[in-house]
Amino acid sequence: MKTNKKNLRSKEWFGGNDKMGFVHRSWLRNQGYPDDMFRGRPVIGICNTWSELTPCNGHLREFAEIVKKGVLEAGGFPLEFPVMSLGETIMRPTTMLFRNLASMDVEESIRANPLDGIVLLTGCDKTTPSTIMGACSVDLPTIVVPGGPMLNGKFRGGEIGSGSFNWMIKEKQKRDKFTEEDFLEAEICAARSAGHCNTMGTASTMATMAEALGLTLPGASAIPAVDARKKVMAQLSGRRIVEMVNEDLTLSKILTREAFENAIVVNAAVGGSTNLIIHLIAIAGRMGVPLKLEDFDDLGSKIPLLVNLMPSGKHLMEDYFYAGGLSVVLKELKSKLHKTVTANGKSHQENCEKAVCYNEEVISKYDTPFQKEAGIAVLKGNLCENGAVIKPSAATPELMKHRGKAVVFTSMDDYHARVDDPNLDIDADSVIVLQNVGPKGYPGMPEVGNVDLPEKLIMQGVKDMVRISDGRMSGTAYGTVVLHVSPESAIGGNLALVQNGDFIELDVENRRLHLDVSPEELEKRRAAWIPPKPHTERGYVKIYLNHVEQAEKGADLDILVGGSGSEVKGDLH
Ligand code: FES
Ligand code: MG
Repeated sequence: MKTNKKNLRSKEWFGGNDKMGFVHRSWLRNQGYPDDMFRGRPVIGICNTWSELTPCNGHLREFAEIVKKGVLEAGGFPLEFPVMSLGETIMRPTTMLFRNLASMDVEESIRANPLDGIVLLTGCDKTTPSTIMGACSVDLPTIVVPGGPMLNGKFRGGEIGSGSFNWMIKEKQKRDKFTEEDFLEAEICAARSAGHCNTMGTASTMATMAEALGLTLPGASAIPAVDARKKVMAQLSGRRIVEMVNEDLTLSKILTREAFENAIVVNAAVGGSTNLIIHLIAIAGRMGVPLKLEDFDDLGSKIPLLVNLMPSGKHLMEDYFYAGGLSVVLKELKSKLHKTVTANGKSHQENCEKAVCYNEEVISKYDTPFQKEAGIAVLKGNLCENGAVIKPSAATPELMKHRGKAVVFTSMDDYHARVDDPNLDIDADSVIVLQNVGPKGYPGMPEVGNVDLPEKLIMQGVKDMVRISDGRMSGTAYGTVVLHVSPESAIGGNLALVQNGDFIELDVENRRLHLDVSPEELEKRRAAWIPPKPHTERGYVKIYLNHVEQAEKGADLDILVGGSGSEVKGDLH
């Protein structure tokens, strides 16, 4: 085995001929390892987000074993460790409340242990950014093994997307008279294999982001969870991380400003989730790379949509993989991307050279895209002084310029209590305003921005309305939904001052979101505004509330921005 890196970090633990060397080795050897297995070899930490409470990551237990084989083959020594796992479909009130907590777990677990390189096993939405954020703050050589999407959902002869179908349920119940049996059948059909959501929702977006940033092997992100090639990729990633340690290819060498710019361009081309914005800014913050909300518009909004996947289009991740996956997209974007180094030591341009598109109905050519100028639009105006975002590819073109009367809900409880009231004064032109669903307001900035339309309007055939909030929306969702309004209402942003009947103007082309109320009137309302009571006085949530930043800063905790490196002083005895 050739090794260029003379001083392995793990040598500090296992190399000494003294009391501490004895202690560190002796207890590890109770697992039955010969001492030369880990002495002088790169020790690879396999950071596993497997959990039975995160069904999307349910197969990662097995994947860790596969990664270990690769590590051993390449002359490394693998040690798997569990970290907090965030299961999108189960955790309350929202996984986003815990992304930063999970990142702390990852960061401290890596730093405190004798690890030379890291493999991140990820899948469900937040398990990717949380682990990457934590790893960034330590900055060891790190590779991501994305768990992969589920197979396409198949239901009664048609396709159904895990995630995107959820948003039709109220419509299905009310308009199409879906019965309980219909739902029970659809449930398992939508999620019929291991893996994460099979649309270009947040999980697929995050896997794509990891690959676009250069953190995976080429082509890793789109492979379905149950495809044999996913296992091959996991094994090869195990081999590769050992080489990365030997080459000292740390995260800071991969995650340059250019790599983040690449991720923004790629996200636009695949019609990725708005959640990417928050996570990418948070990751950049950990690396000390400057990245602003405006960068997403400047770099991404002129990029066409090349991928015809739900929720912006009609296909699912399996089709995308068979069409050639991200390698084809990267090839189309070749001239738009920086030549950065990726996990295998090569640039995207080198890696995608041989990519072939096998289905242009799923991945288009750059010159004949599914939609021109797809990326994310960053809005400004008196309703969102620090910004708000909208995903034009998932919105209704006719509503992108709209003036309507506000119908205000002060919380999700208020929304649930009144939205279906037949006497609610609302019509298709109204603008639904949802307050107090931001980082501090909910807390945790849940994916509620795409609230269902009122039942009476659904029955009239209304399909979309402008909705505005300081929350997020699921990457699988769609609609003319303005999200991430900052400053959020819970800290007194102007969103908190909107009243029923105020006129709101949305003009996506001119990037404007305006509350048509005079500054004098706004000041009057501000003087009378009473801030909501804090959600709790103790525990992690208290720390979160005291330290969480606004959406445009990535909603990280201010105390977590940046990194502390991999050095750790002091020993246990
Ligand atoms: Fe886990 Fe969608 S719920 S990826
Ligand atoms: Mg989600």
